[in-house]
Amino acid sequence: MPITGTHPAPSHVLAHLSDPHLIAGTDLLHGRIDTREQLRRALERVEGCAEHIDALVVSGDLTDRGDAAAYELFLAMVTPVVKRLGCALVVTGGNHDERRAMARVLHGVDTDEPQDAVTHVRGLRIIAIDSAVPGYHHGGFSDPQYAWLTRELATSAEHGTILVIHHAPIVYRSPVMQLLDFREAGRLQATIEGSDVRAILSGHLHVTSFGTLGGVPVLVAGGVSYVDDVGAPRELLMAVDGPQSWNLVEVHPDHVVGTVVPVAQHETWPALSQAVQDHMATVPEPDQAEVFSRKPS
Ligand SMILES: [Fe+2]
Ligand SMILES: [Fe+2]
Repeated sequence: MPITGTHPAPSHVLAHLSDPHLIAGTDLLHGRIDTREQLRRALERVEGCAEHIDALVVSGDLTDRGDAAAYELFLAMVTPVVKRLGCALVVTGGNHDERRAMARVLHGVDTDEPQDAVTHVRGLRIIAIDSAVPGYHHGGFSDPQYAWLTRELATSAEHGTILVIHHAPIVYRSPVMQLLDFREAGRLQATIEGSDVRAILSGHLHVTSFGTLGGVPVLVAGGVSYVDDVGAPRELLMAVDGPQSWNLVEVHPDHVVGTVVPVAQHETWPALSQAVQDHMATVPEPDQAEVFSRKPS
């Protein structure tokens, strides 16, 4: 009898990546980071995680310079993965993106309008809203975007709603990044209050972080490209080539769980000895929790 655990599998699983800052060509980001290789490794880890992924979510700063060539590279890298996984692709813009180039290449439309979109996956609604403010690095929504979100949230979805917003609507420790944060977080909080929004997936901070907006969890995926060194004093903004990561987001009927997955593949070994595995295989399912949890006397 294999070990089955004590809870049913999640209803939905999302792979949440952020901030690939993709650069077409041979330039390195900050003169150090091969952004193409970082995204390739992250996607490889998504495909290798053996979960059924319902949606690949990339929450902004898809490219570093917002040029068409970088979006074409993004599509060329992501599309085969999405096809192989048989999952939805959900993207939104960040402050390093440029709306017109992104809209042309990713959505096939020639416009400066944000490509806000709703994706339904077996009863789960994923709403991606572009929080990039044209001409600035801080984030926020326009009045029409707030009106659109309000209209969308007027109805609820069977499994609730996940929002995807590049600028994380939480207070981050870095004074520099606070200058570039999501403005009017209170307005966003009021907009989603009483709705079926179950979690907000964000990026921008280049570090794994968790917070709340009202009662809604905000899960921030660490950057795929580079990471903010939290070990440095908060007044500094120090980048580090590691530990890049993404979040595996598991949606259950009554809770949402985010788990950090490093982009780098480290050496692994079985944490359960073969003897323990062989013994557990003989234990009937109803007794597994008691047998496995009990310490030897
Ligand atoms: Fe970024
Ligand atoms: Fe950003």
